[in-house]
Amino acid sequence: METFSEERLGEFMGTMAGYMTGGALCFSVLLGDELGIYRAMAGAGSLSADDVAKRSDCNVRLVREWLDGQVAGGLVNYEPASDSYELSAEAAMALADDSSPAFVARGMNAFASLFMDIEKIKSAYQGDGGLSWGDHHKCLFNGTEWFFRTGYRASLATQWIPALDGVDDKLRKGAKVADVGCGHGASVVVMAEAYPKSKFWGFDFHAPSIKTSKARASDAGVAKQTKFKVATSKDYEGTIDLISFFDCLHDMGDPLGIARYAREHLEDDGTVLLVEPFALENRVQNISENPMAALLYTASSAICTPNSLSQEVGLGLGAQAGPGKLREVMSDAGFSRFRVAAETPLNLIIEARP
Ligand SMILES: C[S@@+](CC[C@H](N)C(=O)[O-])C[C@H]1O[C@@H](n2cnc3c(N)ncnc32)[C@H](O)[C@@H]1O
Repeated sequence: METFSEERLGEFMGTMAGYMTGGALCFSVLLGDELGIYRAMAGAGSLSADDVAKRSDCNVRLVREWLDGQVAGGLVNYEPASDSYELSAEAAMALADDSSPAFVARGMNAFASLFMDIEKIKSAYQGDGGLSWGDHHKCLFNGTEWFFRTGYRASLATQWIPALDGVDDKLRKGAKVADVGCGHGASVVVMAEAYPKSKFWGFDFHAPSIKTSKARASDAGVAKQTKFKVATSKDYEGTIDLISFFDCLHDMGDPLGIARYAREHLEDDGTVLLVEPFALENRVQNISENPMAALLYTASSAICTPNSLSQEVGLGLGAQAGPGKLREVMSDAGFSRFRVAAETPLNLIIEARP
């Protein structure tokens, strides 16, 4: 065991200060999004605190305090000579424009849910480990949608599907797609917009999410091409050309049974598109080298794994399973071809074929 070192304590406390600042700023980013403060600042150039408060219809004293926190955290620019604040074009993309490929502000809902659900999460740890998705605060459902939606909108139709063997062509001509564990339908909407000749079914066992999916599809003008149904991942019929799982297979209790079910319902030349949180092949390497690992293991330990443990089989695959374990699951389910077709810092995009 190492002896106590004042220097290491200083370093450790520096790390903790960084995390505490990050946690507080996640809250203030969510607040800024909810109150429309970033949107009020975007593209407006230099503004006084009074201007920001007026534009967002908020209390000026509180806005001034919030703005100084944003400046100290490097999110908003400040000009001392004129005592004015400005949201840079880059910050506006990340914080104000929910159609941009960098928008992250609303994803903070997911972090908020962790704090709000702490009693339920504690009970899971002290009990059988199970906490079902639908028992979380609704911030989790919104947060998950917005956390992943940005990547789907940026890359799904332009890079991920084109990286799969022959799938882009099939969907252009018109194919049947089942999106299993579809949540708020973010992936279904992107695919339906890109492939107007194809038909899309979204399935999720969480009824409020299915209701939101229908509203999202209708708002996006793709209601005619899409159908959503409250269903578990082993409760759809027919044979399908593309079965997709977006950031959800690891959340499920029986990923092997669910992958087998998908194999049975896949056309012989069909494809499973498995999008999973990014992880490296080797667990030890993943912990030390994957910059997203701390965030993803933490989410996994409080959300994904408890949901899996609350279901039949209760495998508890975890959000950091990585390509090796996922290959094993898909191979045991009867898929002979498995390939990481693309990746981003947040996601692995996997193609599995019979
Ligand atoms: C992390 S969310 C991902 C949602 C969506 N695919 C997305 O990317 O935004 C996981 C989803 O899986 C759903 N889910 C979990 N277990 C399920 C099961 N056994 N059958 C159907 N859906 C399930 C949850 O309700 C939730 O919507």
